[in-house]
Amino acid sequence: MSNRFAIAIAHPNIALIKYWGNRDPEWNIPSAGSLSMTLGEVFTRTKVTLDEKLEADRLLIDGQVASEMAQRRVSVFLDRVRELSGRHGVCLIESENNFPQGVGIASSAAAFAALGVAISAVFDLPLDAISLSRLARLGSGSACRSLQGGFVEWLAGEDHHSSYAVQIAPADHWELTDCIAVVSREHKGVVSQEGHRLASTSPFQACRVETAAERLAICRQAILNRDFEALASVVELDSNLMHAVMITSSPPLFYWEPPTLFLMQAVRQKRAEGYPLCYTIDAGPNVHILTPSEYALTVQAWVKGLPGVQEVILAPVGGDASLLDEGK
Ligand code: DP6
Repeated sequence: MSNRFAIAIAHPNIALIKYWGNRDPEWNIPSAGSLSMTLGEVFTRTKVTLDEKLEADRLLIDGQVASEMAQRRVSVFLDRVRELSGRHGVCLIESENNFPQGVGIASSAAAFAALGVAISAVFDLPLDAISLSRLARLGSGSACRSLQGGFVEWLAGEDHHSSYAVQIAPADHWELTDCIAVVSREHKGVVSQEGHRLASTSPFQACRVETAAERLAICRQAILNRDFEALASVVELDSNLMHAVMITSSPPLFYWEPPTLFLMQAVRQKRAEGYPLCYTIDAGPNVHILTPSEYALTVQAWVKGLPGVQEVILAPVGGDASLLDEGK
């Protein structure tokens, strides 16, 4: 007997206004809204096969049996989907990435977005962007922003139904490129899930959350107006605020390495000289340098020569997550 399967692809995203901290950790309902740019060229491709012969869900990443932690995270997500949908079936999940994972390039966002699309197809669940966004959020908060391409805002909401992401501008609205300066390929020490839990222990988190709506409005407007200067200042401010919360949590979280700080200063210096570029950093040491796409190759060549930089990955604005194939 052949097994039902579906194959889906999704892109990671880089948060321009960050998600850090939950009001309801069980459902990944964030303390504030966030906004991201979907990244093209980098992707996760996932095949889900219903397999009655398996005793438990099985996860392969890039052909290797995944770590116990990753297997558990995926199984918890699938249990949630089975519980919410009333569908059953043990799954083989085969996932491939064309970019390094666990180093602040939102690999779990792309992973859970692709898995969300594939499992929805296999279980015959709704495939509209909002339903998929809600579902992907249960696996990894930021995954809800990877269902759509272009520029995407996560409406914080207050429960499972009201918390999902919507596209505010399509991929071709503004040609920006994320030049990802890789300074380390080591897996991050503290996963974001743990970081979200610690956020409220920082005395700065309440202030960050209280002022998030203002930054979201400025960022949204800067994108709609294609105003790079306005975008640069709010994106750097928001990244700095999240890292201020991280380093003042108990226990503190330090994701930066010495080259991270060097790059932040170098980017600010270059901008002062008149180049349109800005930085933002997720839960890892690597630095995302945003620039209008016409400058991307120049920025890449410049950043490659800076101390501690191993590689610069270029990611233009990417498209929607999608179902590539399905069958029995
Ligand atoms: C710093 O809980 O979505 O990237 O650990 O990858 O599942 P994973 O992350 P998630 O938190 C993401 C936090 C962030 C900021 C952001 O993407 O908004």
